[in-house]
Amino acid sequence: MVDDSRISGFYKLSIKERQKKLKELTGLTDEELASLFDPGKVDMEVLDHMIENVVGSMTLPLGIATNFQVNEQDYLVPMAIEEPSVVAAASNAARMTRPHGGFFATDTGPVMIAQIQTTEVPAPFSAKVDILLKKQELIEFANEQDPILVKFGGGAKDIRVRVIDSKIGPMLITELIVDTRDAMGANAVNTMAEALAPKIEKITGGKVLLRILSNLADLRLVHVRAVFDAKLLGGEEVVDGIIAAWAFAEADPYRCATHNKGIMNGIDAVVVATGNDFRAIEAGAHSYAAQNGYSSLTKYEKDPDGNLVGSIEIPMAVGLVGGATKVHPVARASVKILEVNTSVELAHVIAAVGLAQNAAALRALAAEGIQKGHMALHARNVASTAGARGEMIEIIAEKMIKEKMIKVERAKELLEELQK
Ligand code: MEV
Repeated sequence: MVDDSRISGFYKLSIKERQKKLKELTGLTDEELASLFDPGKVDMEVLDHMIENVVGSMTLPLGIATNFQVNEQDYLVPMAIEEPSVVAAASNAARMTRPHGGFFATDTGPVMIAQIQTTEVPAPFSAKVDILLKKQELIEFANEQDPILVKFGGGAKDIRVRVIDSKIGPMLITELIVDTRDAMGANAVNTMAEALAPKIEKITGGKVLLRILSNLADLRLVHVRAVFDAKLLGGEEVVDGIIAAWAFAEADPYRCATHNKGIMNGIDAVVVATGNDFRAIEAGAHSYAAQNGYSSLTKYEKDPDGNLVGSIEIPMAVGLVGGATKVHPVARASVKILEVNTSVELAHVIAAVGLAQNAAALRALAAEGIQKGHMALHARNVASTAGARGEMIEIIAEKMIKEKMIKVERAKELLEELQK
């Protein structure tokens, strides 16, 4: 967290100036800044060990969302994303929550589920009882696989068993419930599930097949709410428009997919910036949204003063230790910018960004429409592609918007004129 995440005119600064500001506010070292601002400085050796057949790296822009206050603490939020408008929209929506204390977040703890699939069980219902009778012994054995996690207060906590029907007959599904503390936990829970498999086979007389975590991380939920100021949003009509937009999403899966996609714009950007697994987060979010018919991950209502109250409930399996978060220098620097101490704190901030992103998108859609903002950014991109730099970008973008001619060729002409 930082003392104050409001940085007036941050967007108007040059990259170097923003870099300087970030250094002042967060205590990033020159080396960490170099990794952020000069992707060429990322050690290829590090990347070569992350995946296979490495030939290079794919650089995304990393922006900083401002104005975020979560549980009364201020955060600067790094976001890695290719889509224009997202960072600005999140920062703007976060600003509208500040008069009402920002975002308030709570959670169900960093708890993951690992599944062990057993087929060919002669008597699945009695096998279920047999597993439950040995629950304590099985939990202890699972915890022997990860004494460090146990030392930090985590580890396997419970076991639940279900008999499910399938296309090839009944299956016995044993689920290990594991507190993974500051890890996302995939490695920890998969190791435990694999270790337990022979014991499950012995107890049930069946054949264990899959031993893998579930991305429907519904025991690792985050709940966030915030009041978006009616005046800052643009008045009563806009508030009502946002609520109507949300009601549309709740009533119609075609709209709801786009609504939830807008939430994930913000969430994925922070997940990627911090080196977390965005596919896991996507899978968790959409499967959670689909549990009772596909629905919105957010809810909107009005407070007695007519302000918009938004809330979000979403699985958030992110970690601070292990994986790319610890290895990739940009991810490490992003975590330092955020100054979060636990995976749960990170999850709170990420869910708050999702809510802010959604409120911003609905506000734009319900008020002026999304294209105005997009066009401004598109024009800036086109100007930059044409070779404009610094304040030239803004001047050329504005001209092109006025002329309703946003084309690289036109930007090049304007650039030449200006350079004369
Ligand atoms: C675009 O990336 C996201 C939006 O379509 C979300 C929404 O429609 O709510 C603007």
